[in-house]
Amino acid sequence: MPCRIETLEKPARPTAFAPLPQPLAWIEADMLALRARGLERSQRIRSGRQGDAVTLDGRPLINFGSNDYLGYAGDVRLTKAAAKGACAEGFGAGASPLVSGHSESHELLEQSIARLLETEAALLFSSGFAANIATIAALAGPDDIIFSDARNHASIIDGCRLSQATVRIYPHRDMAALATLLAGDRDPVARRKLIVSDTLFSMDGTLAPLASLCEIAHQYQAILMVDEAHATGVFGPRGSGLVEESNCNDGVHLRVGTLSKALGAAGGFVAGHQAVIHWLRHKARASIFSTAHPPSIAAAATRAIGLLAEEPQRRKTLLANAAEFRDRLLSAGIDLGEAEAQIVPIMAGTAEAAVRLADRLASNGFFVPAIRPPSVPEGRSLVRASLSWHHTVETLQRLASTIEALRHEP
Ligand SMILES: Cc1ncc(COP(=O)(O)O)c(C=O)c1O
Repeated sequence: MPCRIETLEKPARPTAFAPLPQPLAWIEADMLALRARGLERSQRIRSGRQGDAVTLDGRPLINFGSNDYLGYAGDVRLTKAAAKGACAEGFGAGASPLVSGHSESHELLEQSIARLLETEAALLFSSGFAANIATIAALAGPDDIIFSDARNHASIIDGCRLSQATVRIYPHRDMAALATLLAGDRDPVARRKLIVSDTLFSMDGTLAPLASLCEIAHQYQAILMVDEAHATGVFGPRGSGLVEESNCNDGVHLRVGTLSKALGAAGGFVAGHQAVIHWLRHKARASIFSTAHPPSIAAAATRAIGLLAEEPQRRKTLLANAAEFRDRLLSAGIDLGEAEAQIVPIMAGTAEAAVRLADRLASNGFFVPAIRPPSVPEGRSLVRASLSWHHTVETLQRLASTIEALRHEP
């Protein structure tokens, strides 16, 4: 059943910027430099919902540019759950979780997450970004060492910086290099060692070697924390993520995830041992000093977790379609890096080449965004197709044919 209220006031954008006061004038020069490097971004305005098609700046396009992997972001069942939550508990949470912001909807959601992940407990945050920075900064401090994959998400990088720990970056998924770093770091002063990795890397579509990470963490008595942001809902027999898929529940100490991607809602979480989560409630500053996210969003996320159990075919279809799509492009000689999931990067090289390819795909009716620095290193720009359960095999074939045809254009 569609929502009854579907039209909103149309926003208007200012067309010119006012001149900046002198202390901020440097920003204009900084923007000019970004523009000169082809890195100026324009934020598109979406009309209506996420879905297989999306209208951006008034232009309808087939949507390969959202993290709505299971098609729940625009699902009316989540809208209804949110409406019920808002009616029962009001819209705003009104306070931080430790004061009076933690509603029954939040409690139910934390328990649902813990059940899904088969962990003892979970702690909610208002975003996955907040979950990463708060958890890392709580676990590690100036005397500690963090070992971080070179392609970890920005929120992990910022969490490492915030912690003031010594950070050792190991090359992407290079377990021999990680083991060497740990072996060489027998620093008697360092109190704790923390290994942190995405499970499904958001730009490359690659998977972390979880079994090896667990072995190495065990060998060197390091804490192992993983970020399942893009794997939650997609991998694993119950849809809890790559840890479940790889049978690594016992070796991973802490799992961060987000409710904003496959689950179609918003908010982040960390899950693990009850004693650790209880301690984090006292230490994770982005939880302690921030208003809990609205109870209606918690109610919608709990509904989405229920849908993971009711609709396992969505994740199966998505992964099967993604494998077929990748195979077809690979056999046509398209460079997809080492992608192995529903995130499929088409390597372009320069930022200009990525933007050119994305523009041409848009001219053919597909929204496949260009990903440029700082999201990826200089020279590794790409066009990222994020596949969703919404996409039919026919749509995927049309996109593949278009990419194959466009790659010969200068
Ligand atoms: C790997 C990874 N972790 C964390 C996040 C942050 O999650 P959220 O969007 O819920 O803040 C993202 C978001 O893009 C991500 O890609």
